[in-house]
Amino acid sequence: MVKRIGVLTSGGDAPGMNAAIRAVTRVANSAGIEVYGIYDGYLGLVEGYIEPLTRSDVSDIIDRGGTILGSARLPEFKDPKVQQAGIHQLKKRGIEAVVVIGGDGSYRGALALSEQGINCIGLPGTIDNDITCTDFTIGFDTALHTVVEAVDKLRDTSSSHHRCSVVEVMGNRCGDLALWAGIACGAEIVVTPQTGFEETEVLERLKEFDVVKKKRHAIVVISEKITDVDAFAKKVSLNTGFSGRATVLGHVQRGGSPTPQDRVLASRMGEKAVDLLIQGIGGQCVGIKDNQIIAVPIKEALDIPRSSRKKLQDLFDRLV
Ligand code: ADP
Ligand code: F6P
Repeated sequence: MVKRIGVLTSGGDAPGMNAAIRAVTRVANSAGIEVYGIYDGYLGLVEGYIEPLTRSDVSDIIDRGGTILGSARLPEFKDPKVQQAGIHQLKKRGIEAVVVIGGDGSYRGALALSEQGINCIGLPGTIDNDITCTDFTIGFDTALHTVVEAVDKLRDTSSSHHRCSVVEVMGNRCGDLALWAGIACGAEIVVTPQTGFEETEVLERLKEFDVVKKKRHAIVVISEKITDVDAFAKKVSLNTGFSGRATVLGHVQRGGSPTPQDRVLASRMGEKAVDLLIQGIGGQCVGIKDNQIIAVPIKEALDIPRSSRKKLQDLFDRLV
């Protein structure tokens, strides 16, 4: 059986990563497996920034945002020579397997290591919910809470001033944060990479909310990287009865204490990762489907197309 494993966090951090690190460490320790923390993602792997992690090292972190291991992006890790340098660091320490907590880019690194004999298990740590083999990623629920809290506040002031708030949320080409927040906040319009963006059509709909529906405010939740929200808010002021204001929520969405849902999800997924490694399985990633914790080969997971979220989008449209 595997005797020594590593754990690392990679890519954009997400609330709940610490709960996952804690679960991996404690479940592994209970099974007699030693755990090593690999700092700063693949960068620390390659540079050998690797230290033992024990039960007490992961005390008092379940409620903390960010990641105690640090995270980084190392584009050079795509190079097999750089991967070999990482494998060398692991072998030097007798580390046979690694739990990689991150997004799909991090999964590609985990797959490359697995194909070279280091069993890796991926855990979906990202606020974007853009990993298609799982219903939810670790961090999505917490980020959604942050967005909802902010939009609720924006609605108060928008209503007082007959304004339209254009709120840009993160998502990295996945519209889930925007769509879920739109439903949870009762937004008037949601724009995501999946809905597309027709500027004139959105402006026409806003006029309707003002003139026909006589709304005091309008909230447009829009995914990042679709349009310049400041410029769009100015067009709202020029073309509709609302005065437009743009708010970019930005990295505030990545921080904060994880919600109970994210803590429990991270703990369940961390447990599954260790159980797979105990069985000698690697090259897989963990997900949750219909509230069951599952494992899928990373290769397959990376090929699953993103859902259009048609049912949820239809629900949003019926609620407006
Ligand atoms: P995320 O994991 O959140 O999607 P990135 O896409 O930035 O974030 O990926 C995180 C890291 O994973 C990268 O900086 C790189 O070190 C590693 N990575 C990304 N793509 C690959 C790849 N094709 N092969 C090996 N490693 C990769
Ligand atoms: O993947 C998480 C995420 O926050 C995305 O939503 C966003 O596009 C990106 O990371 C921002 O990256 P950075 O932290 O490098 O600015």
